[in-house]
Amino acid sequence: MTGELSPIDKAKFVAAKRAAEMVEDGMRVGLGTGSTAAWLVRCLGEMVREDGLKITGVPTSARTAELAREVGIEVITLDEARWLDLTIDGADEFDGDLNLIKGGGGALLQEKIVATASDQMVVIADKAKEVEMLGAFPLPIEVIPFGWQTSQALVEETLISMDVMGRSSTLRMNGASPYVTDEGNHILDLHLNRIGNPRQLALVLNQIPGVVENGLFIDICDTVVIGYGDGKVEVRDINEGTIETDRIDFVETDNLFADLGE
Ligand code: 5RP
Repeated sequence: MTGELSPIDKAKFVAAKRAAEMVEDGMRVGLGTGSTAAWLVRCLGEMVREDGLKITGVPTSARTAELAREVGIEVITLDEARWLDLTIDGADEFDGDLNLIKGGGGALLQEKIVATASDQMVVIADKAKEVEMLGAFPLPIEVIPFGWQTSQALVEETLISMDVMGRSSTLRMNGASPYVTDEGNHILDLHLNRIGNPRQLALVLNQIPGVVENGLFIDICDTVVIGYGDGKVEVRDINEGTIETDRIDFVETDNLFADLGE
């Protein structure tokens, strides 16, 4: 079954599988959103069902909540958990300081709240997500629907004085209608190409009325688990300054692939 996965999917899977090993009995775990995070949720579900792992999960989107329940993870809200031991999530880009662009899946707001409310954030990603400088991936920002075009104009004007290499933006669509987030907002994707000062940009964007949150995660991520298509994984811990490599065996997890829905 695993033979049907593309190298990128294998890379995502092994990163997720390795990160799942960091989860311990009794932990409150933030569950990310996206295709890599979906592998994590499946891995954790298997550990709950087959190894008796006892965890509670705080999902970062309605679709992650649905998958988590489906695979047998007890789901609670962030308000019930209040604080989390660990959040594991994907990313669209990460740099050498483990600053991130997130929100490709439209869940950046809940993702940032949940990751910030965690002792540790671990990002799981395939090697292609690593960049020298953030910005090739369009930066998502969440805006409230009221006056979104005015907010868009303000954002583009603000970008003139920022260290970026483009300032056009597009409203994310879902077919013929604007995409609506779980919080009822819209997403603007900023085509910046290169973000020279992500920390400054993250602060400035959030000052603009109508902008709820941006997809720059600065000083939030502690560890990245990078997966490769051949089963290799690399674990980089920014606080410890350590890099470990490992290898994940596909065979033992075959039943994870039996119900591939997405
Ligand atoms: C969702 C996200 C995802 O983590 C990000 O888009 C990566 O997704 P994938 O694992 O499918 O490549 O930020 O809002």
